[in-house]
Amino acid sequence: MKILVTGGTGYIGSHTVVELQNKGFEVVIVDNLSNSKKEVVDSIEKITGTKPVLEVFDLVDREKTADFFKRHNDIKGVIHFAAYKAVGESVQKPLMYYRNNLVSLMNVMESMIENNIDNLVFSSSCTVYGQPDELPVSENAPIKKAESPYGNTKQIAEEIIADTVNVEPIKTIALRYFNPIGAHDSALIGELPLGVPNNLVPFITQTAIGIREQLSVFGEDYNTPDGTAIRDYIHVVDLAKAHVIAVNRMIEGNMKKDFEVFNLGTGNGYSVLEVIKSFEKVSGQKLNYKIVDRRPGDIEKVWANPDFSNRELGWKAERGLDEMTLSAWKWEKALRNNQTES
Ligand code: UD1
Repeated sequence: MKILVTGGTGYIGSHTVVELQNKGFEVVIVDNLSNSKKEVVDSIEKITGTKPVLEVFDLVDREKTADFFKRHNDIKGVIHFAAYKAVGESVQKPLMYYRNNLVSLMNVMESMIENNIDNLVFSSSCTVYGQPDELPVSENAPIKKAESPYGNTKQIAEEIIADTVNVEPIKTIALRYFNPIGAHDSALIGELPLGVPNNLVPFITQTAIGIREQLSVFGEDYNTPDGTAIRDYIHVVDLAKAHVIAVNRMIEGNMKKDFEVFNLGTGNGYSVLEVIKSFEKVSGQKLNYKIVDRRPGDIEKVWANPDFSNRELGWKAERGLDEMTLSAWKWEKALRNNQTES
């Protein structure tokens, strides 16, 4: 059964391709390589024994997208990851974010409709909740005004989907990710941030390996036990597995309505300092960090109520924080070793 994975050479996409192939799906990837490398498909082949087909083009291009779908009209489902995701950059370049994230979604959905492809899994984010009034946050929590154009693209995308499934045969599962970190056990795929990382864990591992001098911890005056902000970190492989379950749920006709939304988190919140401590423990390295001011736009604390996903999807995040930070560290070391060798 053939599945299209857009953004399949990216961080979450590549881990999902591996899990799909492990379950016997045939995968075709479309990616414009704006934030990833084509060699990722070779790494996927090393892990699974199968090299996924990769077509390099931009899904913002309506004609190229239509042409692709005409050639692959035997696709049974689409997992749409392809999007920009840097919060700060989206504030600087809002139009670039709206165009890329929304036009590509509309092009994909139009082509799906034209080719009678009904099953869509959409990458959403816990950012749609803003700072929730109640914790842990469940899927029914109100959507707060987005803090950034990036966050707004996820909210608008969910609205576009909701309006479309009302009138078209398309069905969608939106997965709202909390904070994915870590890498595949093989250390052959992982997060590949280009330039200076925005996210916490790549910044930690790059500091420990000597690429960055010091990690800045953004704020220690939050209303949390140690004063640093709290997030629900989830292992990327746990996250990837939920996508395979979502695809199966659609294909087997088990959806309860045409647009379903699920939280993908562990249900546990950890502070920035707890993540650093976990990293120091598993790596045996002291991390050079200093406390600085809060980062504008950051929320204080958020973690998931995963009960609905656990029950309805029969899925549960299995890996703990130490396993996450250790796999991220192994990936960082493998990456730098390979770069020195080549
Ligand atoms: C953000 C978005 C999320 C998006 C993700 C993708 C929000 C609320 N969340 O996650 O929707 O999918 O980016 O990139 O907009 N930190 C430091 N020092 C650093 C980096 C981070 O202290 O150098 C702290 C942050 O202040 C935060 C935590 O670490 O408390 C996690 O930050 P990060 O990894 O950037 O993720 P989010 O901001 O939670």
